[in-house]
Amino acid sequence: MKNFIFENSTKVIFGEGCVKEYLLSMIQKFSEGNTVMLAYGGGSVKKNGIYDEVKGILDGAGIKTVDFSGIMANPTYAKVLEGANTARENNVGLILAVGGGSVMDCCKAAALAARYEGDIWTDFWSSPDVIDFEPLPLGIIVTAAGTGSECNGGAVITNEEFKIKTGRDYTECNAKFVLMDPAYTYSVPKRQMVSGSFDTLSHIMEIYFSLPDEDNISDDISEALMRSVIRNLRKAVKDPLDYTARSNLMWAATMAENRIIKLGKQTDFECHQMEHQLGAYIDCNHGEGLAVLHPVYYRHIYKDGLYKFSRFATEVWGISPNGKNLEQLAEAGVEALADFIKEVGLPTSLRQIGVNEKTDLKAIADSCNCVSGSYRKMTHDEILKIFKECY
Ligand code: NZQ
Ligand code: ZN
Repeated sequence: MKNFIFENSTKVIFGEGCVKEYLLSMIQKFSEGNTVMLAYGGGSVKKNGIYDEVKGILDGAGIKTVDFSGIMANPTYAKVLEGANTARENNVGLILAVGGGSVMDCCKAAALAARYEGDIWTDFWSSPDVIDFEPLPLGIIVTAAGTGSECNGGAVITNEEFKIKTGRDYTECNAKFVLMDPAYTYSVPKRQMVSGSFDTLSHIMEIYFSLPDEDNISDDISEALMRSVIRNLRKAVKDPLDYTARSNLMWAATMAENRIIKLGKQTDFECHQMEHQLGAYIDCNHGEGLAVLHPVYYRHIYKDGLYKFSRFATEVWGISPNGKNLEQLAEAGVEALADFIKEVGLPTSLRQIGVNEKTDLKAIADSCNCVSGSYRKMTHDEILKIFKECY
């Protein structure tokens, strides 16, 4: 195992009815004033009743609210600054992010920017630095499972000016509390439920397929999590109102990104690097972009990680090793993943997610970081090759 320091300060409250029961006490505990900034996305919370429920609780307690709405998928830096200004102008004591990963990420960055005189993109996103001040307190109500953003300090932001989508994970940016009611995810459209769950699976794979490969409890937990995501996504596709399936998908998303399964591991995240840059150029759906890239990326690297890819085949997909050498077994695991992607209706080509003949795939490939934790480090040429194979 690699050495590690573990820290996760977010208080998690999970279960049906948790917003009604605990929201007020959390705000009373963590808010630094009597005004809460209610932050949300493109309006799903107004249609499914979540906004009314939350606003009703706050109004009923005499807490002043100011809305920060219209946070888009793949949130932009301009939107982050808008949120920070709204918080400052209204003397907000806590930001309450009600939504999926995009709302959570935008609010984490806005909470930081609201308490900082300089430019947070230059000072903390373009390259990492030390945060020596307290961001504005942040609380989260999760409405869509997938990113796991609710329990880490990560915020993935798109800077439209530079065409860069990048994430930083600062422990200082962890939310103070998160309320997770699986029933809040019933209204998530099937397409987003599947893509969010694939994002979770992707996070686990990006961590699992990295050195060291010696006995590590993180890898054992990862295998259990992957089996759970696959099983419960199949159930939720059949019955979107299956509370147990929704609960497991929601908690697996958190477990994948609350830093626990990264302990002792290098981690890869090259597929995320590629997908984020695709997102910066074509604004595609995150989980769908990953679904297109993963099988092709793994066909490129599995021979450099035969032990782990063959273990993936047997432990995650239940493939029998009988009659197969290590390479055939490893390959069968990657193909089982590709089959699953088709089975749940995810896209399998870049064309399906918005890339066309005018898209400059070389520019996108050249803008990707080549990370060092992969079984084989990518080059920009090989990334371009992968993009072309995915097209
Ligand atoms: O915007 P609204 O109207 O709310 O609709 C959203 C959006 O259209 C909808 N939705 C959310 N909850 C709903 C609902 N619709 C009906 N009922 C509900 N209860 O779902 C759509 C997608 O939402 P979004 O937040 O964009 O999706 P997701 O949770 O997948 O977040 C994606 C963003 O998170 C970043 C991604 O790059 C992307 O920008 N990531 C953040 C990470 C982190 N901070 O740790 C890690 C990830 O790897 C990822 O990069
Ligand atoms: Zn992701």
